[in-house]
Amino acid sequence: QKKSKDNLRCPVVCVLGHVDTGKTKILDKIRRTNVQDGEAGGITQQIGASFFPIDAITEKTRPVMELHKVEYNVPGLLIIDTPGHESFTNLRTRGSSLCDLAVLVVDIMHGLEPQTIESIGLLKKRRAPFVIALNKIDRLYGWEPHPELPVQQALEMQADSVKAEFQQRYDFAVRQLQEQGLNACVFYENQDVRTFLNVVPTSAISGDGMMDLLFLLSTLPAKMLIDKIMYHENLECTVLEVKAIEGLGTTMDVIVVNGKLKEKQKIVVCGLEGPIVTQIRSLLTPQPMKEMRVKTPYIHHQEIKGAIGVKICANGIERALAGSNLYVVGEDDDEEELKDEVMKD
Ligand code: GTP
Ligand code: MG
Ligand code: NA
Repeated sequence: QKKSKDNLRCPVVCVLGHVDTGKTKILDKIRRTNVQDGEAGGITQQIGASFFPIDAITEKTRPVMELHKVEYNVPGLLIIDTPGHESFTNLRTRGSSLCDLAVLVVDIMHGLEPQTIESIGLLKKRRAPFVIALNKIDRLYGWEPHPELPVQQALEMQADSVKAEFQQRYDFAVRQLQEQGLNACVFYENQDVRTFLNVVPTSAISGDGMMDLLFLLSTLPAKMLIDKIMYHENLECTVLEVKAIEGLGTTMDVIVVNGKLKEKQKIVVCGLEGPIVTQIRSLLTPQPMKEMRVKTPYIHHQEIKGAIGVKICANGIERALAGSNLYVVGEDDDEEELKDEVMKD
């Protein structure tokens, strides 16, 4: 099958930023779930992935689509949350190395912070395009929520003092980004996405800017990444997490960026004591718009196709390593070669 503009996969989007800037809350707000409240100390310690189908995105973003007169051509978004705490650089690195595109969340009241700058470094290294969510705008003194409007219009509706505080904090963040060698500009004034980073003002509490953020993530790939998100059959799959689940045994949460996985397939992953060869017992996904960490009944699949986050049940994966590539041993493949390959990364 040829790669083509008519066969795009979901872009993989990674959410990065300093601790407590609101990364998880933004995803909660969009999904209408509550992962953040259930976390120990409100800190994200695992990577989670959520699938947002394009129909749901279209429904949530209609006003901003009409304002900008754009249609979407991606089938949805696969969004990976990461923790901001300084001790989880490994998870941020893993998340950023997988993603096509990222959201860097900045608290408008704090500006750039140490892990913001660390994340910028990761994204630069990876050459991944990203947008800045300038979050917590509801904390601007006197902010009146208008989550039903594009954020540009919500801003226009604010009192002069609120507009002035926004401008001052926005200018400060833009200057700080300049010090990192980045030009940035609010997305609805951005004439050149290759020169200026898009900034989206957001609030995960009031919901302002949520539709704008989804809109940007759904439109940017076609402008900047079209070749990269053309689906192809060569399996690209990474293990995000290995964990025991009641009733399922040890499972691996993986992200399949390209290609397919099928039940019963023989797979190879990297393990603590060497390569692990096993068989896929089942392939499970959460319901759409939920994420893998939320306890909902799983959907069983005989076959799945990237980009998707999927939970694999298999024997002998207790010592599998998060971050490992996953390979399928096909009829024509040399198992020993793949075992060497998987231990290389
Ligand atoms: P880590 O995963 O630990 O790095 O944090 P995070 O970036 O995921 O932040 P989280 O979603 O846990 O939110 C941190 C705190 O900020 C919580 O108390 C949220 O309720 C609060 N918060 C998040 N977004 C907003 C926002 O837009 N406005 C306000 N006022 N508070 C917010
Ligand atoms: Mg979090
Ligand atoms: Na937090």
